[in-house]
Amino acid sequence: MRFDVLTIFPELLQSFSECSLIGRAQRKELLTLCTTDLREFATDKHHTVDDEPYGGGGGMVMKAQPWIEAVRAVTELHPSPPHRILLTPQGQTLCEAKVRELANHERLLLLCGRYEAIDERVAELVVDEEISIGDYVLSGGELPAMVLIEAVSRQIPGVVGFNDSVVNDSFRKGLLDYPHYTRPEEVEGLVVPPVLRSGDHAKIDRWRQQQAESATREKRPDLWQRWQGRQR
Ligand code: ADE
Repeated sequence: MRFDVLTIFPELLQSFSECSLIGRAQRKELLTLCTTDLREFATDKHHTVDDEPYGGGGGMVMKAQPWIEAVRAVTELHPSPPHRILLTPQGQTLCEAKVRELANHERLLLLCGRYEAIDERVAELVVDEEISIGDYVLSGGELPAMVLIEAVSRQIPGVVGFNDSVVNDSFRKGLLDYPHYTRPEEVEGLVVPPVLRSGDHAKIDRWRQQQAESATREKRPDLWQRWQGRQR
């Protein structure tokens, strides 16, 4: 799978691209992450990418022309046409089902805005879908793009070392994760639940399922209701 990211801060993605999960996956040639600086597509000598808003009001608006040209140029970097996503608080909220759907694309092109907004014509002309990572406003789309890339990459076979950990991931089955423990057996008076040391794997599986259900019921009643609906 290939990810292209368009941003005025490519350096924000550098260590993300080189380290940990994404770095390892790129070295294994399971994915490619390619970042392009939007300013390369500004035509004036100061590489200006923003301007004052029509209609007045505070803040600056990102100009349409650099985005449109950049999206078209980046598209040409590779033969498969990208699914083009604008990261914005106005988008559809990212969830596990959407992550799995996006993982079916061969190539994603992520547009990371800054300032108050991007000229609306960009979304109309060169964007397929708008995605938000939650109902709060960040200063730009770079962190949301990294969130999306990591979540989608985890769906690619071989990216997460032990595949089981994706299969059992929180949300995959619509429930929160069960509690995990490692050595030592006791930490400040808190001991590991004895069932986990019993060696009885059927019993352990039952305990984990019960814990996942009770955690979901207590911490996320919204998910619990949906999960119960699906069991009927
Ligand atoms: N840009 C700024 N805030 C954002 C959010 N919550 N999700 C996606 N992109 C954003």
